[in-house]
Amino acid sequence: MTSGIKVIAPATISNLACGFDTLGLALDLPCDEIIGRWVDSPGVHIIEISGEKKNIPYHVDTNTAGIAATALLSHMGETGRGVELKIRKHIPGGSGLGSSAASACAAAVLVNELLNRPLEKRELIPFALDGELVSSGSRHGDNVVPCMIGGLMLIRDILEYDYHRVYAPSGLFLAVLLPDLVVNTRDSRGLLRQEVSLQDMVKQSANLGALIIGMNTGDLDLIHRSLEDHVIEPQRKHLIPFFDQIKDRALNLGALGCSISGAGPALFALCPEKLLAQNVADAMKQVYEEHHLGARTFVSGINQEGVILK
Ligand code: HSE
Repeated sequence: MTSGIKVIAPATISNLACGFDTLGLALDLPCDEIIGRWVDSPGVHIIEISGEKKNIPYHVDTNTAGIAATALLSHMGETGRGVELKIRKHIPGGSGLGSSAASACAAAVLVNELLNRPLEKRELIPFALDGELVSSGSRHGDNVVPCMIGGLMLIRDILEYDYHRVYAPSGLFLAVLLPDLVVNTRDSRGLLRQEVSLQDMVKQSANLGALIIGMNTGDLDLIHRSLEDHVIEPQRKHLIPFFDQIKDRALNLGALGCSISGAGPALFALCPEKLLAQNVADAMKQVYEEHHLGARTFVSGINQEGVILK
């Protein structure tokens, strides 16, 4: 590809324990990259997928980047020429780190740039959600919204695009453990019960409200008390070997909370500073080493920009 536009889109952590389908934040790393350019042949053409490409389809009807790019081209009435895409995956698919959302957001921003930016970034969210729907079977926005516009976001109603930025105290870092496993988001959603007991609903909504207050006021102890998932984590944690041990280690070292990232299998531990986050990441990985299981770890701050041109 001689010339083109390059866009990078961050990984995201959704749910954040008590905010199933309603809370998500963008990470500084890893990020997916997409390079694209106009070509004469109409439609979207994915000519290369490199990096963490396992389970990522080339077909534009099943690839989230292809779906988002196609939807935006069609919305803008662009039928005379096409777009060629090269995708560099740094966020593994099926990791719980918003891989499909990142590719979809990157593709939407890239096509918008090629079209000389007719839409605002937030107006691209519906096209990225088209990709998320095909990949996970649900139009939830807790990965797509923070990926696109950065920060910690509360999604009140994605069908109405009613979402809100939550201001978090500075200095928060996330320790992330990514086991060498793939969890299909659709499957991980499919195993959830459709009913929640009244008692759990009360605990979960109290925690979600308190977490937002804790974030807004910088009350780390309130954040710590609220980062608990009474509904989803108990139903999914069996997908992640030694989940309880990892969580115990993180909390014993001083993490504010530890839970499943999105649909899993990645786990996150929210920490009040970077050095602690590094120690927590090492301790979480040690659990897997003790059991001769493979996993990677990384530490990241909260990305406030979302998708950017590079
Ligand atoms: N909130 C979603 C879930 C994120 O937990 O299923 C997965 O994309």
